[in-house]
Amino acid sequence: MERCKNYLVTEPETRKGTWKKPGRSLKLEIGCGKGSFTCALASAEQECDLVAIEKVPDAMILAMERAQAAKLNNVCFLDYDAARLREVFSPGELECIYINFCDPWPKSRDAKFRLTAPAFLRIYADLLPQGGEVFFKTDNGPLFEWSVEQFKNEGWQIRKLTRDLHAQGICGILTDYERRFLEEGVAIKMLVARRGMNTLDGRAGEPPRLRNAALADARANQKQEGS
Ligand SMILES: C[S@@+](CC[C@H](N)C(=O)[O-])C[C@H]1O[C@@H](n2cnc3c(N)ncnc32)[C@H](O)[C@@H]1O
Repeated sequence: MERCKNYLVTEPETRKGTWKKPGRSLKLEIGCGKGSFTCALASAEQECDLVAIEKVPDAMILAMERAQAAKLNNVCFLDYDAARLREVFSPGELECIYINFCDPWPKSRDAKFRLTAPAFLRIYADLLPQGGEVFFKTDNGPLFEWSVEQFKNEGWQIRKLTRDLHAQGICGILTDYERRFLEEGVAIKMLVARRGMNTLDGRAGEPPRLRNAALADARANQKQEGS
């Protein structure tokens, strides 16, 4: 831990709203585990900064050791629960979010813990700008189909979807779990969901009048930024 402590951000809330550096985009990976995807992505995309969160520190230490061994300077790690992401990032601060092989929580009474449950999707919608994307991969068929429904119900645009990502050969960066599933011959499911104007966010519970006013503000801001 001592050797790689520079990669760990211990009070991430204090950096809320200041993560993004000028001219660089900011990406988030949720549940990075041992971090082989994290480090390969950071290494391949030197023009981006990557924040990886993981709620089991033991796995994350391995991820940080990997980052240290590869001398990466565009990645950092948070020992944090995705349910609290609003405390760490400001609205629209992230460009995209990766969720790879999250726990399936197969019992329906535990569905709220799935990282694609509606409450999580609304957190992601708050932190992404219009057009921001969630990249989701899993080996688990029922979780995948359920997640597709959640994204659609919450107003996300499904931009890509495949139920056998590597059918034509290895596609993209593999995660630790993905490598294992591939060896076992399990088909990997993947989708990319885009946040649009009608995507439900943390304001979805508000009365329609307030919500519409907020949407109008967001549109006006976007126009101003574009002009
Ligand atoms: C099955 S592992 C997959 C690890 C890695 N993404 C991979 O594909 O090799 C799922 C990881 O997500 C983490 N995780 C689950 N729920 C989380 C949450 N709410 N916040 C942060 N991490 C979470 C778990 O601790 C675990 O390390």
